[in-house]
Amino acid sequence: MEKRTIVAMPGDGIGKAVLIECIRVLDAAGFKANYVNGDIGWEFWCKEGNPLPERTIKLLEEHKIGLFGAITSKPKDKTATELAPELQGKGYIYYSPIVTMRQHFNLDICMRPCQTFKGNPLNFIRRGANGAIEEPVVDVMIFRQNTEGLYGGVEWTNPPDKVYDALMTHKKFVENFKWCPREELAVSTRILTKKYCTRIIKAAFEYAKKRGFNKITVSEKPNVVRETSGMMLKIAQEMSKAEYPDIKVEDINIDATMMWLTKNPENYNVIVASNMFGDIISDGFAGLIGGLGFATSAQFNPESGVAVFEPTHGSAPKYAEYETSIVNPIAMINSSVMMLEHIGEIEIANNIKKAVAEVVAEGKVRAYDMLKLKGTPDVINQGAASTKQMADAIIAKL
Ligand code: NAI
Ligand code: MG
Repeated sequence: MEKRTIVAMPGDGIGKAVLIECIRVLDAAGFKANYVNGDIGWEFWCKEGNPLPERTIKLLEEHKIGLFGAITSKPKDKTATELAPELQGKGYIYYSPIVTMRQHFNLDICMRPCQTFKGNPLNFIRRGANGAIEEPVVDVMIFRQNTEGLYGGVEWTNPPDKVYDALMTHKKFVENFKWCPREELAVSTRILTKKYCTRIIKAAFEYAKKRGFNKITVSEKPNVVRETSGMMLKIAQEMSKAEYPDIKVEDINIDATMMWLTKNPENYNVIVASNMFGDIISDGFAGLIGGLGFATSAQFNPESGVAVFEPTHGSAPKYAEYETSIVNPIAMINSSVMMLEHIGEIEIANNIKKAVAEVVAEGKVRAYDMLKLKGTPDVINQGAASTKQMADAIIAKL
């Protein structure tokens, strides 16, 4: 087997702790790889004035596949005061390295799986018809358009003349907003393109086909946001007709999705949405399967092949200072499973997935979040597994 090179980007805080354990699990599972370290995060903002140094971008360009822990970002005043003294006042501006990475590599497809692990005490439960407790099995993949929409960054406070004049050509703007002094106006656009809507929807159909699901759900709001959400829905409907006649398109508004997901989460398997709606839906579903200790994501560009896999949690800086790390490495480990699937290492991926499932189902080794403890340093004394012990338990199953 050819040895892969993986760009390992631990980042800040607990990103470091979970990535180290994840790589131990990958090694134990027999995944043959060279890991090259990619610098990213607050540390490099402070030292170099750039949280995503050019050398890391080069590494990703060359090796394509990245495993990423988490980074710290801080409010504006801290970005100035924590910058190395010799760099201060030299015009350095902080940009989120995650957003920069997404934009630089145009990582337009984001996949966020939310799948129930049997025996996880954090699983969502509900009351059934006769009062009995039910634990629905959640098995959903959220396809989030990752580069456009409300997070596209095209926005203004006190918009310039050309923008204001253009807005004034719209009847609704004149009717509803003309009264507002221009300097009190804030405008964030929601721009969607046919090309990238088509790509995310196509990815959703392909996944549905592979898994044998007979519908995809478009979670937008086409009855109100008629242009952009309307375009998403229309593309999906046309694609179903032309290319995937066996896969139906279900149209459920974003707000309704957030209501339905706690009533009947088992009814959804493939959801596709624009950037912000996909972000919201995936957090909603993640809450049903264990939250931040379990939520993972993949983002990639199908043309260039650059792909980055990461847990959705952040760097939890407070926890990073504990002598023994207590955070749950499963989100990170499951992100690496997505990486393995992406590069075709299906057998190793399945083995790791199975090992994680066994540890969770057995219930002997549980991180503090799974025991519903407050994350204090002494949780280990209360029976919680450390980050390393959790990884050890998974490795033992391999
Ligand atoms: P966070 O996700 O770092 O932590 C929130 C809370 O979730 C923690 O206090 C902890 O109780 C729990 N938690 C997180 N990861 C866990 C794990 N693996 N196992 C068990 N419990 C876990 O979010 P927070 O506190 O809002 O942000 C901290 C820093 O992380 C900030 O600087 C923020 O900007 C950054 N951040 C980075 C992200 C990324 O790198 N993708 C995403 C979210 C936040
Ligand atoms: Mg989010």
